[in-house]
Amino acid sequence: MQIILNGERSTVPEAWTEEPLLFVLREHFGLAGAKYGCGAGFCGACTVLVDGVPTRSCITPAAAADGAEVRTVEGLANGDRLHPVQAAWIELGVPQCGYCQSGQIMSAVALLETTPQPTAEDVDVAMAGNLCRCGTYGRIRAAIARAAEAGA
Ligand code: FES
Ligand code: FES
Repeated sequence: MQIILNGERSTVPEAWTEEPLLFVLREHFGLAGAKYGCGAGFCGACTVLVDGVPTRSCITPAAAADGAEVRTVEGLANGDRLHPVQAAWIELGVPQCGYCQSGQIMSAVALLETTPQPTAEDVDVAMAGNLCRCGTYGRIRAAIARAAEAGA
C-alpha cells in the first residue's frame, strides 16, 4: 500500500500493513517524533494527521491510512523555516520533558488549519485528547494563540 508521507509518495510493505501506524512510522520509516504513551488511544502522544485529521496512530492500523496523506511533526518545517506552531512553541518555551509535545503540536496544527482564529473553547475541545503529565497546558494555550496571531 501507498501513503503520502510528509508530502512524499511512500510504500508501506505488505508485512507492515496490519501493524499500528505508529510502529510503521517509527520503525519502518524512522520517524520517531510521534511517541508511544498509553498505546490505547487515551493520551495523544502518538497523534499524527491523516488527511488533516488528528489520529491516534497507536490504535490505527497502517492499512486504515491506505492512499491517505499522513503528516508527522517531522514534516512541518519547510527546510530551515519552522512551521509557525513550532516557532511559537519554542518562543514560549512550551515543552518540559517533551514526551507529549509532538502530539500536542500536531493537534494544534490541525486546529489552526480548520479554525485559524480559535476561541478558548475551540482550543479546549481540540486539545482535550492530548494529555501532558508535566502540566504545560497553560503554555500550550498561549502558544496556540501566538501561532494564530502569526497566521499559522
Ligand atoms: S500512545 Fe496513542 S493515544 Fe496514547
Ligand atoms: S511535556 Fe512532559 S508530558 Fe508533556
